Amino acid sequence: MNITIDAEKSIIEGFINKDNALFIVAVVDGKIIGALSFSGGARKRLAHVGEFGVSILKEYWGKGIGQELIKYLIDWAKETKVIRKINLRTRSDNDRAIRLYKKIGFAEEGIIRREFMIDGKFYDSLMMGMLID
Ligand SMILES: CC(C)(COP(=O)(O)OP(=O)(O)OC[C@H]1O[C@@H](n2cnc3c(N)ncnc32)[C@H](O)[C@@H]1OP(=O)(O)O)[C@@H](O)C(=O)NCCC(=O)NCCS
Repeated sequence: MNITIDAEKSIIEGFINKDNALFIVAVVDGKIIGALSFSGGARKRLAHVGEFGVSILKEYWGKGIGQELIKYLIDWAKETKVIRKINLRTRSDNDRAIRLYKKIGFAEEGIIRREFMIDGKFYDSLMMGMLID
């Protein structure tokens, strides 16, 4: 996705200035090689639940960095006392991500059909979630 630095700044500020949102990065030798963002709902009745996305630069896959970022998110969520549920969605054929999420303790909650269309081909997404108590 091509966006300007100012647009990226305002997206990140949107996470930082909320008490139910988190934006963290993984840094190796001064270079950002991964990021995780999570945002809870804006309305009171949705403030306890949010969805995250995580992405690691390919050359750093399989080193436990994704897992580290997600564990940080879970610990942070428990400390907020606001977040009571963490959701995620991933392409249903993303075996690597699904295996990692299951290992960490996320449970499958459902399939959203045709959520992605890439090069004319449809892909389902798998919804997963973790309760924070
Ligand atoms: C999914 C992603 C975040 C994982 O990050 P990562 O740092 O590589 O993951 P980790 O090293 O922490 O976790 C490794 C775990 O992934 C799984 N995994 C690793 N290699 C795998 C493979 N070839 N096939 C299936 N699962 C695999 C395993 O559960 C592994 O744990 P284990 O080695 O203890 O069995 C990363 O691959 C990524 O950025 N992918 C592109 C973006 C994406 O798909 N994001 C998630 C969808 S929203």
